[in-house]
Amino acid sequence: MATMWHGRFGADPSASLQALNDSLHFDQRMYQQDIDGSCAHVRMLCEVGLLEPSERDEIVAALEQVSEELSDGSFEFVESDEDIHTAIERRVCELTEAGAKLHTGRSRNDQVAADLRLWTKSAIDEIVTLVRGLQLTLLGAAESVGDAYLPGYTHLQQAQPVLLAHHLLAHGWALGRDVDRLNDARARLDVSPLGAGALAGSSLPLDPEMCADELGFAGVFDNSLDAVSDRDFVAETLFGLALLGVHLSRIGEELILWASSEFGFVTLDEAFSTGSSMMPQKKNPDIAELARGKAGRLIGHLTGLMTTLKGLPLTYNKDLQEDKEPLFDAVDTVLLTVSALDGMIESLEFNTSRMADAAASPYAAATDLAEWLVARGMPFRQAHEIVANLVRRSLDGEGAFVDLVAASDALGTEAAGLLEPGVSVTRRNTHGGGSPDAVAEQIQRFRALLGQPPGPG
Ligand code: ARG
Repeated sequence: MATMWHGRFGADPSASLQALNDSLHFDQRMYQQDIDGSCAHVRMLCEVGLLEPSERDEIVAALEQVSEELSDGSFEFVESDEDIHTAIERRVCELTEAGAKLHTGRSRNDQVAADLRLWTKSAIDEIVTLVRGLQLTLLGAAESVGDAYLPGYTHLQQAQPVLLAHHLLAHGWALGRDVDRLNDARARLDVSPLGAGALAGSSLPLDPEMCADELGFAGVFDNSLDAVSDRDFVAETLFGLALLGVHLSRIGEELILWASSEFGFVTLDEAFSTGSSMMPQKKNPDIAELARGKAGRLIGHLTGLMTTLKGLPLTYNKDLQEDKEPLFDAVDTVLLTVSALDGMIESLEFNTSRMADAAASPYAAATDLAEWLVARGMPFRQAHEIVANLVRRSLDGEGAFVDLVAASDALGTEAAGLLEPGVSVTRRNTHGGGSPDAVAEQIQRFRALLGQPPGPG
C-alpha cells in the first residue's frame, strides 16, 4: 500500500495501526475547507514563483473536480487514504502531474489546523443563526402573553409573582450571552496557520498573509510552533457550546416541571411530545428531557478535549486528531437540540389561568407589605418582623392572612389591598424588574439586541 511516507518505510502499515490511526471517516466532512485551503495555497505558491501559472491552473482545476466528486458521491476512496487531506492530494496527483507540487511548503499540521478553523467559523455562524431564532421565539411568546403572571421561585419555593414575559426573557438574555461568547471565540480563532509548515515555517519564500487573505482569515499566526499546536479555539468553542447546552438544559428542566400535572402551566403540542408504548394516557416532554440530557454530553466533550490537551508537549502530536469528533458532535448536538426546543416552545400553550391561580397565595405579596411600611418610613428589619409575625399567626390558624393584615395597626385595609391577586406583580417598577412597565421597556431592549425594530410596547 502506498502511504505518503513509503519512501522511508520498507513495510506496509499493520491493519490495527490503520484502524486506530485513520481519521477519514470523520474528517471527510471538512473536505470543502481542505479544498479551499489547497486552492489558496497553490495560488500563493504561484505568486511567489514556486509554481508556473499553468501548474497552478491545473491543480486548481483538479481540486475543483475533486470537490465535485466528493459532493456528488462519485469520489472513490482507497485503502491508503488515511485522512481527507491525503485522500484529496492522492486524487489530485492522479488527475494531474502538477499535483506532485501541491504539498510544497506545507504540512498536514498547518493544513488540518487551517481546515478546522474554517469549519469552526461556519459552524459557529450556523449555531448563532439558530440561537437567534430561538431568542425570537421567546420574544414572540413574551409579547403574546401580555400581562400573564405566575409565581416566581427561589429554592423552587414560591417567592414573588412575576410576569410570564419576564420569565421567558430571562432565558432569552442568557442565550444572548451564549451568542456573544461564540462570536467572541470566532473572532479569536480567525487566524490562519497556513505557512507554519510542520512546525518551524519553511526555507521556501512562502507568503502566509496571502493565504490568509484568500481564505478570508482576519489575520495570520505569529509563531509557527504555536500555530500547529494551538487548539484553544476548539476548547473555547466547546465551552461556548457546553454553556449554551447548560442554558438549554435549564429551559428543558422548567418545561418538564411546567408540563407536569402538578404544575400544569403549559400544554405541549402533540407534534413536539411523545406517547408511551404502555401507558395510553401519557404525553411526554422528550425534547425538553433530551435538551437536559445532551448538556452532559456537551460538558463531556469539553472535559475530554481539555484532558487531551493538558499533557501535550509542543508541537503537533497525534493526540490532536482527537479534537474533531467532540467538536463535530457538539455542533451537531446543539443544532438538533436548539431546533427541536425552538419548535417545542413555539407550539406551547401557556395555561395562564393555572399560573395565576398558583400565584394567588396572599403570602406571595408579603414582601410588598414590608416595602409598603418602608415607603412610610419604617426601617426594613422592623417591617419584615411585623409582616413575618402576621404570616406566622395566619399559618398557626389565627385567621386569613388578609384579615390579619387588615386588622393590623401598622398595615390596615389599604395595605391589605396589595394582597388582591395580580396587584403585587405590578409594583416592582425598577429597571429590569417585574412590573408590566419595566417588562415593556425590557422587551424593547431585547428587541434591539436581536436587531428588531421597536415593537408596539
Ligand atoms: N489527520 C491528522 C489530524 O487530524 C492530520 C494531521 C496529521 N499530521 C501528522 N503529522 N501525522 O490531526
